[in-house]
Amino acid sequence: MSVPLVVFNNGYTCPVFGLGTWKSQPGEVTQAVKDAIDIGYRHIDCAHIYGNEREVGAALKAKFDEGVIKRGDIFITSKLWCTFHKPDLVEGAIRTTLENLGLDYLDLYLIHWPQAYKEGGELFPVDASGKAVPSDVDYVDTWKAMEQLVDKGLTKSIGISNFNKKQIDRVLAEARIRPAVNQIEVHPYLNQNKLIEYCKLQGIAITAYSPLGSPDRPWAKPGDPSLLQDPRLKSIADRYSKTVAQVLIRYAIDRGLIVIPKSVNKARIEQNFQVFDFQLSPEDLELVASLECNGRLCMMGDTHHPDYPFHDEY
Ligand code: A2P
Repeated sequence: MSVPLVVFNNGYTCPVFGLGTWKSQPGEVTQAVKDAIDIGYRHIDCAHIYGNEREVGAALKAKFDEGVIKRGDIFITSKLWCTFHKPDLVEGAIRTTLENLGLDYLDLYLIHWPQAYKEGGELFPVDASGKAVPSDVDYVDTWKAMEQLVDKGLTKSIGISNFNKKQIDRVLAEARIRPAVNQIEVHPYLNQNKLIEYCKLQGIAITAYSPLGSPDRPWAKPGDPSLLQDPRLKSIADRYSKTVAQVLIRYAIDRGLIVIPKSVNKARIEQNFQVFDFQLSPEDLELVASLECNGRLCMMGDTHHPDYPFHDEY
């Protein structure tokens, strides 16, 4: 069973479905990635800030060595962290990621967030009051350094993550290489219709993160709304003899998005892959979409940052 592909604006292709690795602990992610590859996953979403790229790399190496996959068979994404936005730090940052993953190129490298943080120290630099310390680097200048990574063959494609419309427009106005992807939070509580429509118009593919509502996000509180336990989704899932997680994954795919559910559990990694034998009807897509409640789950606590992306409507 092979996963359908999307074609980027630069002609490269990407499986519409991949394994997320945010929150996957270093001690569990190697086995998870190995299981995923054995099951048929051919797209792994990584980031320097997840603190587990070495362990993801160990799984890739094992599967290359076993001959299960070749480098060209698998799509690997990683992301530039906020303390490395300064143009002269960008190449070093991707080289660190490549070394950790044991690869000589990435398929896709994203600016993880538009906000730049003070360089040279902690990954989350904070002032005496605990507030994130911005750097004055402009993400447009970071973008120009990202373009050079493509020139040097360190990544096939480049993109952005968590950028709003205005920020996308500023990048596009100066881009020599257009972003292939904007990776953003998307699920039925946060449908992102306007931003998705706008990116589509600009030829930018969307990757949906937190498609299951990230119940393991560190700041989750008891009583928070839960997609996976939403009875409205459960009754739709029952009609297809599928799980709520499978309906959530299918919801993203049926909207033309790339989707990267995270799991470190073999049975759930397998379950999440079993989504290519059904499709949501147009009526059910509408029903799922009607759960929209502006329910954003993932934001950095730096609303004071001049480049904080979520003050705008989209
Ligand atoms: P686990 O890793 O133990 O499987 P998201 O991709 O939205 O960030 O969600 C990831 C969370 O959802 C993790 O807590 C993961 O737990 C859980 N999860 C992943 N797949 C499923 C599934 N099929 N059913 C229930 N929970 C799931």
